[in-house]
Amino acid sequence: MKPIHTLAVGAALAAAVGQANAAEIEVLHWWTSGGEAKAANMLKQKLEAKGHTWKDFAVAGGGGDSAMTVLKSRAISGNPPAVAQIKGPLIQEWGEMGFLGNIDEVAEKENWNAFLPERLAADDKVDGHFAAVPVNIHRINWLWANTEVLEKSGIDTLPKTWDEFFADAKKIREAGFIPLAHGGQPWQDATVFEVVLMGTGGADFYRKAFVDLDPEALTSDTMVESLKTFKKLRGTMDPDIAGRDWNIATSMVISGKAAMQIMGDWAKGEFTAAGLEPGKDYLCEAAPMTEHMFSYNVDSFAMFQVDDEGQHQAQMDLASLILSKDFQATFNKAKGSIPVRMDVPLDDFDPCAKASHEAFLAAQDGGGLVPSLAHGMAVSASVQGAVFDVITNFFNDPDMSAETAAERLASAVRAAS
Ligand code: BGC
Repeated sequence: MKPIHTLAVGAALAAAVGQANAAEIEVLHWWTSGGEAKAANMLKQKLEAKGHTWKDFAVAGGGGDSAMTVLKSRAISGNPPAVAQIKGPLIQEWGEMGFLGNIDEVAEKENWNAFLPERLAADDKVDGHFAAVPVNIHRINWLWANTEVLEKSGIDTLPKTWDEFFADAKKIREAGFIPLAHGGQPWQDATVFEVVLMGTGGADFYRKAFVDLDPEALTSDTMVESLKTFKKLRGTMDPDIAGRDWNIATSMVISGKAAMQIMGDWAKGEFTAAGLEPGKDYLCEAAPMTEHMFSYNVDSFAMFQVDDEGQHQAQMDLASLILSKDFQATFNKAKGSIPVRMDVPLDDFDPCAKASHEAFLAAQDGGGLVPSLAHGMAVSASVQGAVFDVITNFFNDPDMSAETAAERLASAVRAAS
């Protein structure tokens, strides 16, 4: 006979999933750093509390490039996972190839269109039908800093312009610290470059270059100037950036080895997991010259076609819990992002999250809201890959001029479009 407590748990789980069968769904994601894993685990636990089983398919590698490569090979061999973390236009690409299912049933029942920003919800639909569920909104254009290191370097406030940034970097270096923590991986290079480009050219220029892929913008003086500033940043980093993971770079700021990092707010997930307090131990501010802008990056989980009714139900249960108000609050506090639902109160969120929410609304009204190219929100995967190649090669080649890099950018984008 089964022990009483097992029966009780079984009954509770059966009640949780209602009439449908409890099912196992495999979930591919790339949330493997300290803060990310904590947040992913919350999702797993909530799904399992509904009686389903989360089969973890974590593929390490910030930014998700490795995860996307693994997803392709699983799909080609006819065995994709039931759920995969995919973003922006790439969701459409998978949908158009016929891989994705339809979760309109839950979206309509819960009236998602009423509380999701229209522009963001559009990325999760294929031919007008929800095929994915958005989880959060990450802001890319952040500058993170260790307060003690700034203090020891004689710096009171974070730099507002790139000139101020380079002047501060000099002081930080003289005080014996690394000014800017960085990981030399193509997606991190592109993250930093995107932020420099936004600040240098403004939102309209960013859209012309990185959304419309306008050849004139790609080879313009503004592009050349952005590339020069970007390359100059290399001098503010340490010599060991090659291949370093983003969270190792964040840990250099946390431990006080480095002063600052330019990174999306998943970095805050690392500060939070390390028990640090914003405003006291670390600062978050818009990166130089991007105060009125918001480069957005929305994580979504796409639902692959499944034959099993139980699995389809599990996909919809997962989507439903992701968008529940409670989960939006607890998850986003751990992940560093803000809720994708606009009706979740932020009263007990930290000041960086509150600032992010305000910046999102202001940028939406003022025209400063732009999709992140570095994080797959702006262009197709092939164009994104072409941009990554040029940016990284330029960053690592001391002899390549900014003018040459701009020409290469335009031709690489043309070839990939
Ligand atoms: C994702 C984040 C993730 C980060 C680092 C970004 O592209 O949107 O959720 O934390 O990569 O892995």
